Amino acid sequence: MHQIAVLPGDGIGPEITEQAVRVLTALGLPLELQTQPVGGAAYAAHGHPLPEATLKLAQSARAILFGAVGDWKYDNLERHLRPEQAILGLRKALGLFANLRPAILYPQLANASTLKPEVVAGLDILIVRELTGDIYFGQPRGVRTLEDGPFKGERQGFDTMHYAESEIRRIAHIAFQAALKRNKKLCSVDKANVLETSQFWRDVMIAVSAEYPEVELSHMYVDNAAMQLVRAPKEFDVVVTGNLFGDILSDEAAMLTGSIGMLPSASLNAAGQGLYEPSHGSAPDIAGQNIANPLATILSAAMLLRYSLDEAAQADRIEAAVQSVLEQGLRTADIYEPGMLRVSTSEMGDAVLKALK
Ligand code: NAI
Ligand code: MG
Repeated sequence: MHQIAVLPGDGIGPEITEQAVRVLTALGLPLELQTQPVGGAAYAAHGHPLPEATLKLAQSARAILFGAVGDWKYDNLERHLRPEQAILGLRKALGLFANLRPAILYPQLANASTLKPEVVAGLDILIVRELTGDIYFGQPRGVRTLEDGPFKGERQGFDTMHYAESEIRRIAHIAFQAALKRNKKLCSVDKANVLETSQFWRDVMIAVSAEYPEVELSHMYVDNAAMQLVRAPKEFDVVVTGNLFGDILSDEAAMLTGSIGMLPSASLNAAGQGLYEPSHGSAPDIAGQNIANPLATILSAAMLLRYSLDEAAQADRIEAAVQSVLEQGLRTADIYEPGMLRVSTSEMGDAVLKALK
C-alpha cells in the first residue's frame, strides 16, 4: 500500500485536486489517500497554514499531491500565518531540493503560445532546478556600511552564492536519472565564465557524468540559455541548473507553452519522497466557480506515479488520456478557442476518467 497525502489547499486548490484524486483512484493501484487542510484552508480550520497533523501526514507519506495555496482573503495576516508559508515550510521540513518542471506544449494547443507554432508545437522539455541552496539561502547576507574602497561610507546590500559539492552531486543525479528516462540529453546551465560557484558546479557535473555514459552532457551559459529557449526551445531535452537561474528559466520555459493551467511540477528529496503540484497558484479570481483547468493537477498526479511510485506505465496512461481529451476538442475557459467544446472543471475530470478506460 502506498501512502499518499492529499493537501488540496485554498482558492481553486480543492476543485482541481478533487479531479486528480478521482483519476488516481480510478487506476486500481494499491494507494491509500489521506487528506489534510493546508494554507488558507488550514488557517481557517486550525489557525495555522501548516498545522502539526498536516506536516505529520506529509512527512509519513510516500508522496504528496498538493493543490495550491494563497487566497487573497489571507493577505493581511502576519507573514508566518500566510498560506504561502505552508509550501515553504513543507519544502524545508522534507528537504525537497529538486524541482522538476516540465514544459510541454500539446500539439492541439500550439496557438496558446505567443511564439510561432513551428517553434513550439510539440515542445517537451524538463527543467530541473535546485531548490534549497544558492544565493537564495547563502550567508552572510544583509545591508552593511562600507569601511573602505570606492564606495566607502555608503550602505551596500549583499548576498552570498555558494554550493557544496554534495548539493551539486545530488541534483546532478536527479537530472541524469530524469534524462535516462527521456532522450538522454542533459544541458547544465551556469555562468562559469564569470562565477566561481558556476565553474565548480560545472566541474562536479562533469565528474558525475562519468556514472552516466549513456547521457550526453552539454553546458551552456545562462544568458545564452535564455536566448536559445525562445529561439529554438525544442533543441533542449533536460536542463539542470541552480536555484537562481532555475527560478528564471523555469518561468520562461512555462510561458513558451502559454497555458499555465496545463503545467505540472514535482519537488523531490533524497529519500525519494516527492511533492507534486500544478505550477500555477490558487487563482483566487476564479475560485469556487468550477471553471479552473484541472489538467495541471492531473498531470502532477501522473508525475507522482512516475517519480515516486515507479509506475511509469500508469503515468503514461494518464498523459495519454489528457492528450485524448484535447484531441476531442474539450477545453476549459483558460485554453478555449472558438470551435472547441467549453467544459467545466468537473466535466474535464469526467472526460479524463472516461479516456482512461
Ligand atoms: P495564479 O497562477 O494563481 O494565477 C494567475 C492567472 O492564471 C489568474 O488569472 C488565474 O485565474 C489563472 N490560472 C491559474 N491557474 C489556473 C487554472 N488551473 N485554470 C485556469 N486559470 C488559471 O498566480 P497569481 O494570481 O500570481 O497568484 C495567486 C495566489 O497564488 C498568490 O497568493 C500566490 O502567492 C499563490 N501562488 C501559490 C503557488 C503554490 O501554491 N505553489 C504558486 C504560485 C502562486
Ligand atoms: Mg518564480
